[in-house]
Amino acid sequence: MSSFKALRVHQDGKQVEARLESMDVEQLAEGAVVIRAQWSGINFKDALAVTGKGKIMRSFPMNAGIDVSGVVETSEDPRFKPGQEVLVTGCGLGEERDGGFAGYARVPGDAVVHLPEGMSLRDAMAIGTAGFTAGMALVRMEQNGQHPDLGPILVNGATGGVGSFAVRLFSRAGYPVTALTGKQDAADYLRNLGATEVVDTATLEMGSRPLEKSLWGGAVDNLGGESLAWLTRTVHPWGNIGAIGLAAGIELNTTVMPFILRGVSLLGINSVHCSRDLRLAVWRRLGELLRSEDYADIVQAETGLEGVRETAEQMLSRKTRGRTLVRLGD
Ligand SMILES: NC(=O)c1ccc[n+]([C@@H]2O[C@H](COP(=O)([O-])OP(=O)(O)OC[C@H]3O[C@@H](n4cnc5c(N)ncnc54)[C@H](OP(=O)(O)O)[C@@H]3O)[C@@H](O)[C@H]2O)c1
Repeated sequence: MSSFKALRVHQDGKQVEARLESMDVEQLAEGAVVIRAQWSGINFKDALAVTGKGKIMRSFPMNAGIDVSGVVETSEDPRFKPGQEVLVTGCGLGEERDGGFAGYARVPGDAVVHLPEGMSLRDAMAIGTAGFTAGMALVRMEQNGQHPDLGPILVNGATGGVGSFAVRLFSRAGYPVTALTGKQDAADYLRNLGATEVVDTATLEMGSRPLEKSLWGGAVDNLGGESLAWLTRTVHPWGNIGAIGLAAGIELNTTVMPFILRGVSLLGINSVHCSRDLRLAVWRRLGELLRSEDYADIVQAETGLEGVRETAEQMLSRKTRGRTLVRLGD
């Protein structure tokens, strides 16, 4: 294996800097499976990591990128053979160990998933952690009794990576979906993904009573803060809220009233570390619900490693939409 390029994040004092540099496989974090990377994608967490605007990496230097898909080059794990197409999302990549923004990744076997049938390596990274997380919200909410008869699903941060997949997946699973967005020109994009209604965040009256009029059968929350608090006050009895993100804040200021008077459930979604059974169940559901045209609808841009930093800045300024893929293969 010859040397390859990696987007490696360094810390000098308080300064964090992502640099494009050459590496050898022996320099990567240890693991049983070496993957010749073909594709990755940029998630909110990657944007925080490569710009240094969030404390994502536990040590430095480290290759960024929480997702990767590619071909097994070597494997000491009997479940994987050279030449097989595989993907990894989360599992500490780009946070606790070298991640996917590189020509190769070396990872533990438990993190590796065989590419689902009918999906390409590029499709898998169009989904990436964003789509996987939206899929996990769907699976967990349905395990807890979510059903289209309960009413529409509210998705906030709807034009983001997670939001876009949440709109498409819940709509494919038979739910009416209300998409909440701060982007005034995004209505066509969201309706095309399956939103039955699009609401501009600026027009929202959130109220402040412990229980407001109930509006939603369930919700997918990418924002945290005020938006999540409002959702707890407005979900119908026995509805579920998948708590995914913190794009707007980490606080949650609510009361116990929605939980004890409406039976509302707040379900934590952790896409990084979950049981292998749940991980495989989510990929199976994604394989069942998604079709080849979904990726073209949601992938808005493609870049090489040299373009990751610029996209990260745009993402944190709320200027991106859907998913940006990172080309790693030849
Ligand atoms: N729990 C998990 O395992 C997990 C996994 C993946 C992601 N996440 C989290 O989920 C969130 C979304 O991730 P992503 O990759 O989809 O990011 P993204 O593509 O940047 O999408 C985030 C969206 O949220 C909205 N938004 C961003 N900043 C905001 C602000 N300050 N106030 C209000 N709305 C804001 C924007 O949507 P509009 O312009 O349409 O309103 C934006 O497109 C992030 O917080 C991320 O850390 C968690």
